[in-house]
Amino acid sequence: MTTALDGLTGPAIELAEHWTAHNYHPLPVVIASGEGAWVTDVDGRRYLDCLAGYSALNFGHRHPDLIAAAHAQLDRVTLTSRAFLHDQFGPFCQELATLCGKDLVLPMNTGAEAVETAIKVARKWGYKVKGVPDGQATIVVAADNFHGRTTTIISFSTDPDARADYGPYTPGFRIVPYGDLAALADAIDDTTVAVLIEPIQGEAGVLVPPPDYLPGVRELCTASNVLFVADEVQSGLGRTGATFACGDVVPDVYVLGKALGGGIVPVSAIAANRDVLGVLRPGEHGSTFGGNPLACAVARAVIALLGTGQPQANARLVGAYLHERLNTLVGHGLTAVRGRGLWAGIDIDPALMTGRQACEALLTHGVLAKDTHGSTLRLAPPLLVTEGDVDVAVDALTAVLKG
Ligand SMILES: Cc1ncc(COP(=O)(O)O)c(C=O)c1O
Repeated sequence: MTTALDGLTGPAIELAEHWTAHNYHPLPVVIASGEGAWVTDVDGRRYLDCLAGYSALNFGHRHPDLIAAAHAQLDRVTLTSRAFLHDQFGPFCQELATLCGKDLVLPMNTGAEAVETAIKVARKWGYKVKGVPDGQATIVVAADNFHGRTTTIISFSTDPDARADYGPYTPGFRIVPYGDLAALADAIDDTTVAVLIEPIQGEAGVLVPPPDYLPGVRELCTASNVLFVADEVQSGLGRTGATFACGDVVPDVYVLGKALGGGIVPVSAIAANRDVLGVLRPGEHGSTFGGNPLACAVARAVIALLGTGQPQANARLVGAYLHERLNTLVGHGLTAVRGRGLWAGIDIDPALMTGRQACEALLTHGVLAKDTHGSTLRLAPPLLVTEGDVDVAVDALTAVLKG
């Protein structure tokens, strides 16, 4: 396959490049439609989507159940604001809280907003429940984190691209190496209200922590009366083969986003027990669009899909096949493969090519993927992919690595 910039692709790219800020560097492909794990560009070329909207498309493009839920809701009511209740709100909150095993949920829109919400709730809990002196709250975070793009969140990023030139920065965060329990223990003191981490670091290159890490974080948080806040925005909702990447380890606060909106609408939320989320009072936090009827209707259909266990099961099964095939490439162009379920971080031998070059080459083989940093790629196809789809992706990668 070629990706010649003739046809409709070239002009469409030129138009976008001319009129948009350049905060992204998209691959030279212009998508016109999608179905399941596959998309078609404006010139009729088909591609296997191995990014899946950074895991927002866990259930694929236009999943029939999700589209049906959206259509039905579009025909009734789409927005009320939280000034009024609507008939999707209570059921959505109940169903998401039940999925998370928590008492309460608070819906927002984007992942970053949900992280901000968790930070605010943790601070308020620290002052009102834990008794931290006013203005002194600290939150411990991990190096190489990715939690979003707001000013507060990038204040504790260790990625210069994300952080530089956006100061002054929000204080109150302590950064420790990811996966290092001793460093975490050292960073916690009486002012600490929360530990905020990703159970698997996605943007960092799908870094899976040592097996004792999450149980250790749980223990440390419990022993120190600190909230364990798990950012499952990318790792959650089936990606790793389980509903949550935290697995049996139960955090105090789940932060969810991306796939919760089924790739149709932005939907995010935090879930926690009453002793935590109960600190909020009317007027203290909110969002015009958070918990709107369309979002709730689609998210309810997402929760129902997860309730079948089918997406998680397929992620485990086909994910095992993906990792098995990728591992055969280690030493043959790849230097490492990490991940769990249908989520893989692969390190390409930097002597061969950069991650960007690999993605450009994969594009010409009909596979969409995205580099994270340097020569690391993330593969995260929709959870409904087949072993045949995995073959398409890995065969393309094999060809690319051979040059
Ligand atoms: C772990 C994690 N948290 C938060 C976010 C931010 O989500 P959003 O882009 O919807 O604000 C992301 C996005 O990639 C993420 O991976």
